[in-house]
Formats: sequence, C-alpha cells, structure tokens
Amino acid sequence: MVYSMRTAIYPGSFDPITNGHLDVLHRATKLFDRVIVAVAKNESKHPLFTIEERVQMVGHAVRHLPSVEADSFDGLLVAYVERRSAQAVVRGLRAVSDFEFEFQMALMNRKLNERIETIFMMPKDTYTFLSSRIVKEMAQLGGDVSSFVPAHVRTALAAKFSPNPA
Ligand code: PNS
Repeated sequence: MVYSMRTAIYPGSFDPITNGHLDVLHRATKLFDRVIVAVAKNESKHPLFTIEERVQMVGHAVRHLPSVEADSFDGLLVAYVERRSAQAVVRGLRAVSDFEFEFQMALMNRKLNERIETIFMMPKDTYTFLSSRIVKEMAQLGGDVSSFVPAHVRTALAAKFSPNPA
C-alpha cells in the first residue's frame, strides 16, 4: 500500500493569530500529517499588521509544532491548495453566526475545485467569543489580552497601539 501524506491548509487573515486559532490548529494536527497555516494578504480588509508581521507571528506561535508551517498567499485559495498539493481546507466554526459565510465559502470553493474538501473544527468552548477583531479592539482600549493571544502577539499589539511607536 502506498501511503500519501495528508496535507491541510488552514487559511485566514490571522490579524493577529489568537489562542482560538491555535486551538483549531492543534486539533487539525491530529488529523493531518502536515498543516500549512496560510495567511491571506487580503489588503482589502485593511489589516492592522502587514503580511510579513502576520506570517512572522504565526511562525513564532507554531515553532514547537514540527508538522506545521507558516506561509502566505494571494489570490484564490483553491489555487494555493493545488500549488501546495493539499487535500483539505480547515476552518474554525465558533457559533451559528459563522455558519452562513463559511457555508458559502466552502460551497464556492467546492464549485471551483471538487477535489478539495473543507473541514470545520470547533474550538474549545472558552474561545467561542474570541476573534482577532475583538482582540484588536480590546488591545487598543488598553484591555488585558494576555489570556487570548500568545505573549509575542500581545507585545506586538501593545507596540502597534503605543502612543510613542519605536
Ligand atoms: O480569517 P478570515 O478573514 O475569515 O479568512 C478568510 C479567507 C482568507 C479564508 C478568505 O477570504 C479567502 O479564502 N480568501 C482568498 C480568496 C478566495 O479564494 N476567495 C474565494 C473564497 S469563496
């Protein structure tokens, strides 16, 4: 029997990566031989962090996970999945409110490429309310985000919102 390596792409804006993303990622590593966290350029979303900063923060957060890689992509997700010879896309599903957009995206991606499956994973219930948007808002208003993001992300957020940037 020939064993082929199973690869999943975990795409997102990751602006910035949160503990909720990392929870989903850990779950995905149990199902796949290799997981590539693919940071979308998504300039139209006007991200707080540059693509380089976001990939660097993901890379640092996953450095202890040997089957995980951090990368970036631009353009269609399905084209990137093909380029990386992956079989599946992993997305986190927190609440019903996520469902409509995720359902639409999964079906559109299937229309574009029948071969690629989308797999939804639920993060731990304590992360149900967590999002990059809320983390950014909290950090900007001086709230404590230490239980929601890794330490290096907290430092990066503090630097972005510092009144005296270096
Ligand atoms: O973290 P996000 O912002 O919810 O991630 C959304 C993302 C990046 C996965 C999505 O916007 C995407 O796949 N963008 C790439 C362009 C693309 O393929 N669009 C068609 C999907 S229907």
